[in-house]
Amino acid sequence: ITIGIDVGTSGTKTLAIDEHGKILASASSEYPCSHPRPGWSEQDPELWWRATQETLRAVLSSGKFAPADVAGVGLSGQMHGSVFLDASGEVVRPALLWNDQRTAAQCAEIEDRAGGREALIKMVGNRAMTGFTAPKLLWVRKEEPANWERVRQVLLPKDYVRYRLTGAYATEVSDASGTLLLDVANRRWSRELLAKLDIDPALLPPCHESFEVSAQVSAIGSEATGLPVGTPVVGGGGDQPAGAVGNGIVRPGVASATMGTSGVVFAHTDKPGFDPLGRLQRGCHAVPGAWHVMGVVLSAGGSLQWFRNELGKAEVELSRTQGIDPYLLLTAEAAIAGPGAEGLFFLPYLTGERSPHFDPDAKGGWIGLTVRHGRPHLIRAVLEGATYAMRDSLELIREMGSEIDHIRVSGGGARNALWKQIQADIYGCDVHTLNSTEGPAFGVALLAQVGTGGFATVPEACDATIMTLESTNVDHRAKAYYDKAYKVYQSLYQNLRGTFR
Ligand code: XUL
Repeated sequence: ITIGIDVGTSGTKTLAIDEHGKILASASSEYPCSHPRPGWSEQDPELWWRATQETLRAVLSSGKFAPADVAGVGLSGQMHGSVFLDASGEVVRPALLWNDQRTAAQCAEIEDRAGGREALIKMVGNRAMTGFTAPKLLWVRKEEPANWERVRQVLLPKDYVRYRLTGAYATEVSDASGTLLLDVANRRWSRELLAKLDIDPALLPPCHESFEVSAQVSAIGSEATGLPVGTPVVGGGGDQPAGAVGNGIVRPGVASATMGTSGVVFAHTDKPGFDPLGRLQRGCHAVPGAWHVMGVVLSAGGSLQWFRNELGKAEVELSRTQGIDPYLLLTAEAAIAGPGAEGLFFLPYLTGERSPHFDPDAKGGWIGLTVRHGRPHLIRAVLEGATYAMRDSLELIREMGSEIDHIRVSGGGARNALWKQIQADIYGCDVHTLNSTEGPAFGVALLAQVGTGGFATVPEACDATIMTLESTNVDHRAKAYYDKAYKVYQSLYQNLRGTFR
């Protein structure tokens, strides 16, 4: 039996699986995120630790297994967050999260000190992005020198939970890739960039492979959670790579498309290979000797969520009184309109865009509206627009040399027959749904199985536990239509970007 813990942005989820990947027990606990100023996003690491304690205790007392049978623990969590600790391991200030936007000036400074964007990408695989960890360090150093003076250790969110469980400072390559301080190609901290940024390497913890045992539960950690002293804790993974392990994205040829509020297209690669323009995020995979490439669409499911909230109040009311899923009602209406919504397009940049435009000022909108269009077309265009945005990332992944044979879909876009069909037709390959829907916590529970001898390799663990439930096949007529329409979709952002400032 192994345990997976996912320290998310809105809550922490803990689950236990047996050696066949069967989920024996799970628990989650929510917490808030604070936004002290526009664009700022922070959390007190104590919240993560309390939620970990609570959910671990719930899972360990489920009666489905004995705590003594736990062979290992895997940790996953929101990526890029920065936890600042002083010499005695106390938190210096709240952590800055992945969606914090305050560091634009520091991003420019980093690319400058690195000798330009391309030089930075050569060193750490990525361009400087506001959400990443390194610019946050520079921000605290500049804006809060008294706090910075006290900082002796910087950890990622899940690694803070590891510290409380085991007393050890440690991280692993997949999450470390999101700091902008890891030499992604060589899977070790970039001494070169650290020197250019004047950051003391001693601030960073040792970096393991994701399946490797990093530390053991301490007496204090045991007292706090009920896990036996000495239980091994493996490296684990950032939530995206860990979720990819949970979806079996551990070999070339298969990618995943996950649509929550944001959408992520994720693929496994055998080589680190970089895009010189840095239009996708690169990192080490949670699989030894493998890397990942991913694109992040900021408002994928979020676009439909927005439509539901603002223009689907009747559906929301109906769902409240009759218990019908409002998304089911909206997508049933969208199905009345055919592929392409009679020439109506929707740009889904409601919160700016990350991949591939990196444009915080990008805006959304319907384009091509005529009197013939009605609500079905508006909704269908939203589904198609969000999916075109995902295709933008997929096209770049293909451009970088990955042949994608099929795509594993999850999240809101996978719970709906129409959206699955739209995805198959716009991506141009079959989309599969899986038996495992537990995401990152499941992925790191599998990594813990590998790290403690349950399986020899990560792909073996995935093959033994993850199955395709259903396949939606490409409709070739619709695909031919979408291939043409996609070109128009792409031109819209290029033609309109000047109006977004
Ligand atoms: C990945 C990213 C988010 C966070 C929060 O780059 O920013 O997925 O990991 O979940």
